[in-house]
Amino acid sequence: MSHVVRIGMLGCGTVGQGVVGILHETAGTIERATGHRLEIAKVLVRDLQADRPGLDRGVLTTDVEDILGDDRIDIIIEVMGGVEPTREWLLRALGHGTSVVTANKQLLARHGPELLAAAEEGGSELRFEASVCAAIPVIKVLREALLAAEIESVMGIVNGTTNYILSEMRRSGMSYGDALRQAQDLGYAEADPTEDVGGGDAAAKMAILSSIAFHTRVLIDDVPYSGIDALQSDDVDIAHELGFVMKLLGIARLVDGAVSVRVEPALVPGDHPLASVGGADNAVLLESSMVRQIMLEGPGAGGTETASAVVSDVLSIMGSRPGSFLAGALADAGRPMAPEGSLESAFYVRLEVADQPGVLARVSSVLGESDVSILTVLQRGEGESARLVMILHRAPEGRVRQAIGRLADMPEVREQPVLITVVGSGEAPR
Ligand SMILES: NC(=O)c1ccc[n+]([C@@H]2O[C@H](COP(=O)([O-])OP(=O)(O)OC[C@H]3O[C@@H](n4cnc5c(N)ncnc54)[C@H](OP(=O)(O)O)[C@@H]3O)[C@@H](O)[C@H]2O)c1
Repeated sequence: MSHVVRIGMLGCGTVGQGVVGILHETAGTIERATGHRLEIAKVLVRDLQADRPGLDRGVLTTDVEDILGDDRIDIIIEVMGGVEPTREWLLRALGHGTSVVTANKQLLARHGPELLAAAEEGGSELRFEASVCAAIPVIKVLREALLAAEIESVMGIVNGTTNYILSEMRRSGMSYGDALRQAQDLGYAEADPTEDVGGGDAAAKMAILSSIAFHTRVLIDDVPYSGIDALQSDDVDIAHELGFVMKLLGIARLVDGAVSVRVEPALVPGDHPLASVGGADNAVLLESSMVRQIMLEGPGAGGTETASAVVSDVLSIMGSRPGSFLAGALADAGRPMAPEGSLESAFYVRLEVADQPGVLARVSSVLGESDVSILTVLQRGEGESARLVMILHRAPEGRVRQAIGRLADMPEVREQPVLITVVGSGEAPR
């Protein structure tokens, strides 16, 4: 006879409705495969009157005690979002031995270690596959398949909204503003897109991914980030002309045993695996000398896509014993964070300069004084001004930023120089 696993859900919006739908559609398959019948016992919402297809109104509640105080609930699915009171509620559940599946990246990127400690203490499990890249099973791959692979670098397009905007800017020459409006019309971007376009959403996901990849604690405050909101379509076009594609990249690397994580617009060569990831898709490129490169690509958001990762985590909990090795996957290896500016990279630089003889020679001499050399130059005159676009050879970022600061002070340089990281070629971080 099947054993009933009782689920308590916190929230039932876009992702929660997806979970309800998948559990209904796959109930028979799950029961045959696992011997367990999943039952949605209680669902916390704010609005009891809203339409919730597939749910019996009798399971809805606005009182969290109906879930946290019910000892018969086996697993809690948290799909309501927010940091508080969610953190407090999940700490209580985990501490009492109830396993939790969550899709909440902001909560994990701020309080992941505290929640995992509560799970360890309570003998429960905390799973969060859906918090990064929705349907792409990147956390499972890092936690299980590549646990011993000594991952050295994680590079990801982990925000679908910005990937859609950049892909459209490149494809049709649209401005950033027009591409954002189109993304909003099509439902790829929120009415308030700040978290996505400013890089905060990607930074939270990179904190989670680098914690798992490097077995250490990385919180969102450890991840410097910048978004695509200040990007000019000129830079997207020129990069394309030079054979590069602009992406909002999460870049996490081990540098001499220390962890360096950041999110920024960066250039990847046209033949790099991440260059062809278009539209609103996500992709994560994992590198280690043991396994070389592994790339995972697919939809990074959406109610059903995210819900499929949530359900997969529920099934994993049912298939593993509490306190199994997976509960400790975020074990703290105690790695330090790498000092800012230590990462070596190639760079794209755009300078608007006075169109006078000898300017390029003076620019290259200023760079040379900082031991920074030029790989490629593109020069265009436009009346009294000229545009100099350079790809710089690999050098430590701090040294390059110092040299760019000195260029900005030259009387011939008319605007603040634009500096963009180039990744993925022989000239850039592997
Ligand atoms: N949407 C995606 O594509 C996606 C992708 C990856 C991860 N996520 C993550 O998944 C989580 C849920 O996202 P979503 O898009 O499904 O959000 P949503 O559509 O806004 O749904 C939130 C649900 O939680 C309920 N809720 C919120 N605060 C509550 C409170 N204080 N007390 C009781 N109920 C509360 C809401 O109740 P009412 O329905 O009554 O308002 C609603 O049912 C978030 O952490 C999000 O970051 C979403």
